[in-house]
Amino acid sequence: MRAPGRFITLEGGEGVGKSTQAGLLTQALRTQGLDVVQTREPGGSAGAEAIRDLLLTGAGDRWSTRAEALLFAAARGDHVARTILPAVAAGQWIVCDRFIDSSRAYQSATGELSDAEILSLHAVGSAGLMPDRTLLLAFDQAEGAERARARDGDAGDRIGDRDTTFHTGVSDRFAAIAAAEPARVRTVDASGSPEQVTSRLLAALADLLP
Ligand code: TMP
Repeated sequence: MRAPGRFITLEGGEGVGKSTQAGLLTQALRTQGLDVVQTREPGGSAGAEAIRDLLLTGAGDRWSTRAEALLFAAARGDHVARTILPAVAAGQWIVCDRFIDSSRAYQSATGELSDAEILSLHAVGSAGLMPDRTLLLAFDQAEGAERARARDGDAGDRIGDRDTTFHTGVSDRFAAIAAAEPARVRTVDASGSPEQVTSRLLAALADLLP
């Protein structure tokens, strides 16, 4: 019998090295003989990439918190239906850079929307699909913000450019999700060389590997 596909997500705040690690983890899993699809949010399907532009460009106040949460849920719904579910059904592994926990952390960080409200949008948009494993890259939030600023300069995005209080709230919410869901979410130290971080990620997936 064919081994089942697995849906793995990478999460964390700004400048934590998530996108680099998504690439390295994908390569490492392929080296182990797995058929891996690398994808990201917002985006990962044609419709969701179009919504990504709406979400990440323009003035900071372009969208209300509620409209922003709905757009993320709509983008995710398209990504799940057109990219993630077909890959899982085909027995592939999916390495996804950000997913529902980013909405739970970022769109609730202003306090206007609750975690339950964001999860209810996910229930409608994506039938509540949850990852088999979520790897939360943990790094000093202030240092990460500094790295993201150094990397992006003036070319940051609408959400990444928010103030330190917002990003501290995001970080606290990620930590709370990890504490509440230890079977799904593993916190991984993101300090050290990229190779060291990738081996920690692989160790946090060891029980799922065939
Ligand atoms: P990126 O920096 O990983 O490309 O993500 C783009 C920005 O979008 C980042 O600041 C986090 C934000 N974001 C949310 O606010 N909610 C979400 O659900 C997702 C997927 C991303």
